[in-house]
Amino acid sequence: MVARADELREEVRRRYAESARTVSDGGCGSGGCCDDSQASAVGSARFGEVLYDAEQRGELPDAAVLASLGCGNPVAVADLNEGETVLDLGSGGGIDVILSAKRVGPTGTAYGLDMTDEMLALAQKNAAEAGVKNVHFLKGIMEQIPLPANSVDVVISNCVINLSVDKPAVLSEIARVLKPGGRVGVSDVVAEDRLSPEERAERGSYVGCIAGALSQSEYVAGLEAAGFDDVSVTFTHEVADGMHGAIVKAIKARDSEQTGLPVIQPAASAGCC
Ligand SMILES: C[S@@+](CC[C@H](N)C(=O)[O-])C[C@H]1O[C@@H](n2cnc3c(N)ncnc32)[C@H](O)[C@@H]1O
Repeated sequence: MVARADELREEVRRRYAESARTVSDGGCGSGGCCDDSQASAVGSARFGEVLYDAEQRGELPDAAVLASLGCGNPVAVADLNEGETVLDLGSGGGIDVILSAKRVGPTGTAYGLDMTDEMLALAQKNAAEAGVKNVHFLKGIMEQIPLPANSVDVVISNCVINLSVDKPAVLSEIARVLKPGGRVGVSDVVAEDRLSPEERAERGSYVGCIAGALSQSEYVAGLEAAGFDDVSVTFTHEVADGMHGAIVKAIKARDSEQTGLPVIQPAASAGCC
């Protein structure tokens, strides 16, 4: 079971390393990402740069826009404030880290976490080109976030949690690193409750962000089990039959330190690149 999970994670890593290389070589990342080709069977697939408005795209280097592989626009929903600390899980080519860094300003910090070396290199190049200094890209997995407990104001992520082989661990880790009262503003692919895991897998691949998607009620239950309040999972656009781009929001309870949320120590091997 663990071996299968490791294999699946390695398959995901290989897939996104290839996307990063394509963009670095001057190609377009969106076609080969969260799998538009399969989802477009319903004619309404929407992934990548089209989910950002012209003003946001104007703030970014071309390569960051081309590398966009998301299924939403978490910066638009996270309501970031000057001075805040933001963490983007699965930061890819860095699009949401760069936009977040600009929103939180020089007194704030934007962290991007990714497990794929090629994506981290691309993101660092894009951040340098965008001229943002308040960014840090971390190498590691979102199931073991290499940051201390209670250190982050906002966790964002764009079309990545569906790729995790251990979603309860990701949700516990988000709860651990958020400060009490901290918030989640995530975009992800989410299935309607009527679809079984097998039916989700019929609609697209795991690495294409479809087969591993949680259902709406699984997402809500998972966040509540991890100790979050005010949980909502709202569909925004259909990406395959019964599968949607969605906005996921939640707040870490202010008294969570007293109520004893699960604490998972970050991996010793995960480092800053
Ligand atoms: C679909 S892409 C999304 C990238 C970016 N968020 C965007 O919107 O363009 C998924 C990214 O998540 C990373 N990733 C997938 N699983 C991960 C994990 N378990 N831990 C850390 N990063 C992961 C991949 O390397 C890839 O860069």
